[in-house]
Amino acid sequence: MIDLRSDTVTRPTEGMRRAMLEAPVGDDVFGEDPTVNRLEEYVADLLGKEAALYAPSGTMTNQIGVHIGTNRGEEVLLHEGSHIFVYEAGAPAMLSGVQLRTLPGENGVLDSETVRAAVRSEDVHFPRSRLLCLENTHNTSGGKVFPLEDFAAVATTAKELGLKVHLDGARLFNAQAATGVPASEWCAHADTVSVCSSKGLGAPVGSLLAGDEETIGGGRRTRKAFGGGMRQAGIIAAASLYAFENHVDRLARDHEHARNLASGLREAGYEAREPETNLVLVAVDDPPEFLRALAREGVLATPGKSGYVRLCTHLDVCDILGTEEGIQQVVTACLRATETISSIKG
Ligand SMILES: Cc1ncc(COP(=O)(O)O)c(C=O)c1O
Repeated sequence: MIDLRSDTVTRPTEGMRRAMLEAPVGDDVFGEDPTVNRLEEYVADLLGKEAALYAPSGTMTNQIGVHIGTNRGEEVLLHEGSHIFVYEAGAPAMLSGVQLRTLPGENGVLDSETVRAAVRSEDVHFPRSRLLCLENTHNTSGGKVFPLEDFAAVATTAKELGLKVHLDGARLFNAQAATGVPASEWCAHADTVSVCSSKGLGAPVGSLLAGDEETIGGGRRTRKAFGGGMRQAGIIAAASLYAFENHVDRLARDHEHARNLASGLREAGYEAREPETNLVLVAVDDPPEFLRALAREGVLATPGKSGYVRLCTHLDVCDILGTEEGIQQVVTACLRATETISSIKG
Protein backbone atom coordinates (compact mmCIF):
# COMPACT_ATOMS: atom_id res chain seq x y z
CA MET A 1 0.00 0.00 0.00
CA ILE A 2 1.17 3.52 -0.76
CA ASP A 3 -0.47 5.58 1.96
CA LEU A 4 -1.02 9.16 0.79
CA ARG A 5 -3.90 9.95 3.17
CA SER A 6 -1.94 12.32 5.38
CA ASP A 7 1.50 13.25 6.69
CA THR A 8 0.17 12.09 10.07
CA VAL A 9 0.57 8.42 9.08
CA THR A 10 4.38 8.48 9.37
CA ARG A 11 6.02 6.12 11.84
CA PRO A 12 9.05 7.05 13.95
CA THR A 13 12.39 6.56 12.25
CA GLU A 14 15.24 4.55 13.75
CA GLY A 15 17.02 7.69 14.96
CA MET A 16 13.83 8.99 16.50
CA ARG A 17 13.18 5.70 18.30
CA ARG A 18 16.73 5.80 19.68
CA ALA A 19 16.22 9.36 20.93
CA MET A 20 13.02 8.20 22.68
CA LEU A 21 14.77 5.27 24.29
CA GLU A 22 17.58 7.41 25.62
CA ALA A 23 15.54 10.43 26.73
CA PRO A 24 16.02 11.60 30.32
CA VAL A 25 12.57 12.02 31.90
CA GLY A 26 10.85 13.43 34.97
CA ASP A 27 7.36 14.54 35.99
CA ASP A 28 6.38 17.25 33.53
CA VAL A 29 3.37 18.42 35.54
CA PHE A 30 5.96 19.39 38.19
CA GLY A 31 8.00 21.02 35.37
CA GLU A 32 10.73 18.41 35.96
CA ASP A 33 11.00 16.60 32.64
CA PRO A 34 14.34 17.69 31.16
CA THR A 35 13.45 16.51 27.65
CA VAL A 36 10.11 18.36 27.60
CA ASN A 37 11.85 21.46 28.96
CA ARG A 38 14.49 21.24 26.25
CA LEU A 39 11.85 20.78 23.55
CA GLU A 40 9.82 23.75 24.77
CA GLU A 41 12.91 25.99 24.81
CA TYR A 42 14.04 24.75 21.40
CA VAL A 43 10.67 25.41 19.75
CA ALA A 44 10.18 28.79 21.46
CA ASP A 45 13.58 29.84 20.06
CA LEU A 46 12.78 28.48 16.61
CA LEU A 47 9.54 30.49 16.53
CA GLY A 48 11.06 33.63 18.06
CA LYS A 49 8.77 33.48 21.11
CA GLU A 50 9.57 33.69 24.83
CA ALA A 51 8.00 30.37 25.79
CA ALA A 52 6.32 27.23 24.48
CA LEU A 53 4.10 24.53 25.89
CA TYR A 54 4.10 20.87 24.86
CA ALA A 55 0.71 19.15 24.41
CA PRO A 56 -0.58 15.90 22.89
CA SER A 57 -2.16 17.28 19.72
CA GLY A 58 -2.62 20.22 17.39
CA THR A 59 -6.28 20.28 18.31
CA MET A 60 -5.33 20.76 21.95
CA THR A 61 -2.79 23.53 21.27
CA ASN A 62 -5.33 25.31 19.05
CA GLN A 63 -8.00 24.97 21.71
CA ILE A 64 -5.69 26.22 24.44
CA GLY A 65 -4.93 29.18 22.14
CA VAL A 66 -8.67 29.84 21.73
CA HIS A 67 -9.29 29.48 25.46
CA ILE A 68 -6.59 31.85 26.65
CA GLY A 69 -7.32 34.35 23.86
CA THR A 70 -11.03 34.77 24.70
CA ASN A 71 -13.67 35.03 27.43
CA ARG A 72 -16.97 33.11 27.42
CA GLY A 73 -19.59 34.58 25.09
CA GLU A 74 -17.05 36.29 22.85
CA GLU A 75 -16.53 35.77 19.14
CA VAL A 76 -13.64 34.25 17.20
CA LEU A 77 -13.13 35.24 13.56
CA LEU A 78 -11.65 32.62 11.27
CA HIS A 79 -11.69 31.30 7.71
CA GLU A 80 -14.67 29.17 6.72
CA GLY A 81 -12.36 26.29 5.77
CA SER A 82 -10.13 26.50 8.85
CA HIS A 83 -9.22 23.37 10.77
CA ILE A 84 -10.46 24.92 14.02
CA PHE A 85 -13.91 25.42 12.51
CA VAL A 86 -14.22 22.31 10.33
CA TYR A 87 -12.32 19.55 12.10
CA GLU A 88 -12.14 20.20 15.84
CA ALA A 89 -15.50 18.75 16.87
CA GLY A 90 -17.06 22.04 17.96
CA ALA A 91 -14.44 22.38 20.70
CA PRO A 92 -14.46 26.22 20.89
CA ALA A 93 -18.13 26.08 21.96
CA MET A 94 -17.64 23.00 24.10
CA LEU A 95 -14.48 24.04 25.94
CA SER A 96 -14.42 27.84 25.84
CA GLY A 97 -18.07 28.90 25.38
CA VAL A 98 -17.23 31.10 22.41
CA GLN A 99 -18.97 31.61 19.10
CA LEU A 100 -17.22 31.25 15.75
CA ARG A 101 -17.74 33.69 12.89
CA THR A 102 -16.50 32.21 9.62
CA LEU A 103 -15.20 34.42 6.82
CA PRO A 104 -14.48 33.78 3.14
CA GLY A 105 -11.08 34.17 1.51
CA GLU A 106 -9.29 32.59 -1.42
CA ASN A 107 -6.79 29.86 -0.49
CA GLY A 108 -7.43 30.35 3.21
CA VAL A 109 -6.20 33.94 3.13
CA LEU A 110 -8.28 36.49 5.07
CA ASP A 111 -7.82 40.12 4.17
CA SER A 112 -8.01 43.25 6.28
CA GLU A 113 -11.25 44.54 4.75
CA THR A 114 -13.09 41.29 5.43
CA VAL A 115 -11.89 41.27 9.03
CA ARG A 116 -12.62 44.96 9.55
CA ALA A 117 -16.17 44.49 8.23
CA ALA A 118 -16.76 41.50 10.52
CA VAL A 119 -15.60 43.06 13.79
CA ARG A 120 -18.62 43.98 15.93
CA SER A 121 -19.25 47.46 17.21
CA GLU A 122 -19.72 47.97 20.95
CA ASP A 123 -23.40 47.24 21.52
CA VAL A 124 -25.10 45.15 24.20
CA HIS A 125 -26.74 43.03 21.50
CA PHE A 126 -23.49 41.83 19.98
CA PRO A 127 -20.87 39.38 21.13
CA ARG A 128 -17.46 40.99 21.51
CA SER A 129 -15.05 40.13 18.70
CA ARG A 130 -11.90 39.01 20.51
CA LEU A 131 -9.67 36.66 18.53
CA LEU A 132 -8.62 36.17 14.91
CA CYS A 133 -7.38 32.67 14.00
CA LEU A 134 -5.25 32.27 10.87
CA GLU A 135 -3.90 29.03 9.38
CA ASN A 136 -0.59 28.50 7.54
CA THR A 137 -0.28 26.39 5.49
CA HIS A 138 -3.99 26.09 4.81
CA ASN A 139 -5.11 22.49 4.88
CA THR A 140 -8.47 22.55 3.07
CA SER A 141 -7.09 24.84 0.35
CA GLY A 142 -4.51 22.17 -0.53
CA GLY A 143 -1.56 23.27 1.61
CA LYS A 144 -1.49 26.87 0.40
CA VAL A 145 0.99 29.24 2.00
CA PHE A 146 -0.43 32.38 3.64
CA PRO A 147 1.91 34.98 2.05
CA LEU A 148 3.86 36.83 4.74
CA GLU A 149 2.85 40.29 3.53
CA ASP A 150 -0.86 39.41 3.55
CA PHE A 151 -0.46 37.77 6.93
CA ALA A 152 1.27 40.82 8.42
CA ALA A 153 -1.38 43.14 6.96
CA VAL A 154 -4.40 41.29 8.33
CA ALA A 155 -2.76 40.64 11.71
CA THR A 156 -1.90 44.34 12.04
CA THR A 157 -5.48 45.30 11.23
CA ALA A 158 -6.76 42.79 13.78
CA LYS A 159 -4.53 44.26 16.47
CA GLU A 160 -5.62 47.81 15.61
CA LEU A 161 -9.19 46.62 16.09
CA GLY A 162 -8.34 45.19 19.51
CA LEU A 163 -8.21 41.51 18.55
CA LYS A 164 -5.62 38.95 19.55
CA VAL A 165 -4.17 36.74 16.80
CA HIS A 166 -3.70 32.96 16.97
CA LEU A 167 -1.81 31.12 14.24
CA ASP A 168 -2.64 27.48 13.54
CA GLY A 169 0.76 26.53 12.19
CA ALA A 170 0.28 22.76 12.15
CA ARG A 171 2.28 22.87 8.88
CA LEU A 172 4.08 26.18 9.37
CA PHE A 173 7.44 24.61 8.55
CA ASN A 174 6.04 23.56 5.18
CA ALA A 175 5.43 27.27 4.55
CA GLN A 176 9.03 27.95 5.57
CA ALA A 177 10.34 25.20 3.27
CA ALA A 178 8.22 26.42 0.35
CA THR A 179 9.20 30.08 0.57
CA GLY A 180 12.52 30.29 2.41
CA VAL A 181 10.85 32.71 4.85
CA PRO A 182 11.71 31.69 8.44
CA ALA A 183 8.67 30.46 10.40
CA SER A 184 9.44 33.07 13.06
CA GLU A 185 8.54 35.87 10.62
CA TRP A 186 4.89 34.78 10.56
CA CYS A 187 4.98 34.18 14.32
CA ALA A 188 6.11 37.77 14.94
CA HIS A 189 2.58 38.85 13.94
CA ALA A 190 0.72 36.38 16.17
CA ASP A 191 0.15 36.32 19.92
CA THR A 192 -0.04 32.53 20.06
CA VAL A 193 1.23 29.94 17.58
CA SER A 194 0.47 26.23 17.42
CA VAL A 195 2.95 23.97 15.60
CA CYS A 196 2.75 20.19 15.16
CA SER A 197 5.61 17.71 15.20
CA SER A 198 3.33 14.86 14.15
CA LYS A 199 2.58 16.04 10.59
CA GLY A 200 5.34 16.35 7.99
CA LEU A 201 8.04 16.39 10.67
CA GLY A 202 7.29 12.75 11.37
CA ALA A 203 6.95 12.48 15.15
CA PRO A 204 4.31 10.04 16.43
CA VAL A 205 2.63 12.61 18.67
CA GLY A 206 2.97 16.16 19.96
CA SER A 207 2.31 19.83 19.28
CA LEU A 208 3.49 23.05 20.90
CA LEU A 209 1.85 26.36 21.66
CA ALA A 210 4.22 29.33 21.71
CA GLY A 211 3.79 32.90 22.91
CA ASP A 212 5.02 35.27 25.60
CA GLU A 213 5.84 33.97 29.11
CA GLU A 214 2.65 35.22 30.70
CA THR A 215 0.34 33.88 27.99
CA ILE A 216 2.00 30.46 27.96
CA GLY A 217 1.89 30.40 31.77
CA GLY A 218 -1.90 30.75 31.47
CA GLY A 219 -1.86 28.09 28.75
CA ARG A 220 -0.15 25.67 31.15
CA ARG A 221 -3.11 25.92 33.53
CA THR A 222 -5.57 25.45 30.64
CA ARG A 223 -3.63 22.42 29.38
CA LYS A 224 -4.05 20.83 32.83
CA ALA A 225 -7.77 21.61 32.83
CA PHE A 226 -8.15 20.08 29.35
CA GLY A 227 -6.49 16.87 30.55
CA GLY A 228 -3.22 17.46 28.72
CA GLY A 229 -0.86 17.48 31.73
CA MET A 230 1.43 14.50 31.13
CA ARG A 231 3.94 12.96 33.48
CA GLN A 232 7.14 11.34 32.07
CA ALA A 233 6.30 12.91 28.72
CA GLY A 234 9.98 13.19 27.77
CA ILE A 235 9.70 9.75 26.24
CA ILE A 236 7.47 11.16 23.49
CA ALA A 237 8.80 14.72 23.59
CA ALA A 238 12.17 13.24 22.55
CA ALA A 239 10.58 12.23 19.23
CA SER A 240 9.30 15.79 18.71
CA LEU A 241 12.68 17.28 19.56
CA TYR A 242 14.34 14.88 17.13
CA ALA A 243 11.78 15.88 14.47
CA PHE A 244 12.39 19.62 14.90
CA GLU A 245 16.16 19.12 14.93
CA ASN A 246 16.37 16.74 11.98
CA HIS A 247 13.29 16.84 9.78
CA VAL A 248 12.57 20.49 9.05
CA ASP A 249 14.92 20.77 6.07
CA ARG A 250 13.70 17.55 4.47
CA LEU A 251 10.16 18.95 3.98
CA ALA A 252 11.38 20.44 0.70
CA ARG A 253 11.67 16.89 -0.64
CA ASP A 254 7.99 16.20 0.10
CA HIS A 255 7.13 19.36 -1.83
CA GLU A 256 9.23 18.25 -4.78
CA HIS A 257 7.47 14.86 -4.76
CA ALA A 258 4.08 16.59 -4.65
CA ARG A 259 5.02 18.72 -7.68
CA ASN A 260 6.23 15.62 -9.56
CA LEU A 261 3.05 13.76 -8.71
CA ALA A 262 0.83 16.66 -9.82
CA SER A 263 2.71 16.96 -13.08
CA GLY A 264 2.49 13.17 -13.71
CA LEU A 265 -1.25 13.33 -13.07
CA ARG A 266 -1.67 16.32 -15.38
CA GLU A 267 0.25 14.50 -18.12
CA ALA A 268 -2.19 11.61 -17.65
CA GLY A 269 -5.10 14.02 -18.24
CA TYR A 270 -6.15 14.93 -14.70
CA GLU A 271 -6.82 18.40 -13.42
CA ALA A 272 -4.27 18.52 -10.61
CA ARG A 273 -3.45 21.86 -9.02
CA GLU A 274 0.18 22.86 -8.85
CA PRO A 275 1.00 22.25 -5.17
CA GLU A 276 2.91 24.80 -3.12
CA THR A 277 3.68 22.28 -0.38
CA ASN A 278 2.90 18.61 0.25
CA LEU A 279 -0.81 18.36 -0.59
CA VAL A 280 -2.00 17.55 -4.12
CA LEU A 281 -5.66 18.18 -4.99
CA VAL A 282 -6.93 16.20 -7.98
CA ALA A 283 -10.36 16.70 -9.57
CA VAL A 284 -12.30 13.45 -10.06
CA ASP A 285 -15.92 12.72 -10.96
CA ASP A 286 -17.00 10.73 -7.94
CA PRO A 287 -14.48 11.15 -5.09
CA PRO A 288 -15.85 8.46 -2.68
CA GLU A 289 -16.06 5.84 -5.46
CA PHE A 290 -12.68 6.89 -6.85
CA LEU A 291 -11.04 6.53 -3.41
CA ARG A 292 -12.48 3.03 -2.98
CA ALA A 293 -11.25 1.99 -6.44
CA LEU A 294 -7.86 3.62 -5.78
CA ALA A 295 -7.46 1.64 -2.55
CA ARG A 296 -8.04 -1.56 -4.51
CA GLU A 297 -5.12 -0.45 -6.74
CA GLY A 298 -2.89 -0.12 -3.66
CA VAL A 299 -2.98 3.65 -3.07
CA LEU A 300 -4.76 5.37 -0.17
CA ALA A 301 -5.90 9.00 -0.33
CA THR A 302 -8.63 11.16 1.27
CA PRO A 303 -11.44 13.38 0.02
CA GLY A 304 -10.32 16.96 -0.70
CA LYS A 305 -12.60 19.94 -1.14
CA SER A 306 -15.79 19.23 -3.09
CA GLY A 307 -15.07 17.33 -6.34
CA TYR A 308 -11.43 16.65 -5.41
CA VAL A 309 -9.35 13.99 -3.74
CA ARG A 310 -6.23 14.83 -1.75
CA LEU A 311 -2.88 13.05 -2.02
CA CYS A 312 -0.35 13.90 0.66
CA THR A 313 3.40 13.33 0.34
CA HIS A 314 5.46 12.62 3.46
CA LEU A 315 8.47 10.97 5.05
CA ASP A 316 7.21 7.38 4.82
CA VAL A 317 6.63 7.56 1.05
CA CYS A 318 9.78 9.54 0.38
CA ASP A 319 11.73 6.60 -1.05
CA ILE A 320 8.89 5.49 -3.34
CA LEU A 321 7.97 8.96 -4.63
CA GLY A 322 11.62 9.89 -5.01
CA THR A 323 11.74 7.72 -8.15
CA GLU A 324 10.03 8.15 -11.49
CA GLU A 325 8.66 4.59 -11.22
CA GLY A 326 7.07 5.41 -7.87
CA ILE A 327 5.33 8.47 -9.30
CA GLN A 328 4.15 6.40 -12.28
CA GLN A 329 2.86 3.68 -9.94
CA VAL A 330 0.53 6.21 -8.27
CA VAL A 331 -0.51 7.76 -11.62
CA THR A 332 -1.28 4.30 -13.02
CA ALA A 333 -3.32 3.43 -9.93
CA CYS A 334 -5.35 6.63 -10.47
CA LEU A 335 -5.92 5.81 -14.14
CA ARG A 336 -7.06 2.28 -13.27
CA ALA A 337 -9.39 3.63 -10.58
CA THR A 338 -10.91 6.04 -13.12
CA GLU A 339 -11.32 3.19 -15.63
CA THR A 340 -13.03 1.01 -13.02
CA ILE A 341 -15.51 3.77 -12.22
CA SER A 342 -16.21 4.45 -15.89
CA SER A 343 -16.82 0.76 -16.54
CA ILE A 344 -19.19 0.49 -13.56
CA LYS A 345 -21.11 3.57 -14.63
CA GLY A 346 -21.09 2.41 -18.26
C1 LIG B 1 -4.18 22.78 9.95
C2 LIG B 1 -4.34 21.80 11.06
N1 LIG B 1 -4.48 22.25 12.31
C3 LIG B 1 -4.63 21.41 13.35
C4 LIG B 1 -4.62 20.05 13.17
C5 LIG B 1 -4.87 19.16 14.35
O1 LIG B 1 -3.83 18.35 14.68
P1 LIG B 1 -4.05 17.01 15.54
O2 LIG B 1 -4.50 15.97 14.57
O3 LIG B 1 -2.71 16.77 16.13
O4 LIG B 1 -5.08 17.30 16.57
C6 LIG B 1 -4.47 19.53 11.88
C7 LIG B 1 -4.47 18.07 11.65
O5 LIG B 1 -4.35 17.58 10.56
C8 LIG B 1 -4.33 20.43 10.80
O6 LIG B 1 -4.23 20.00 9.53
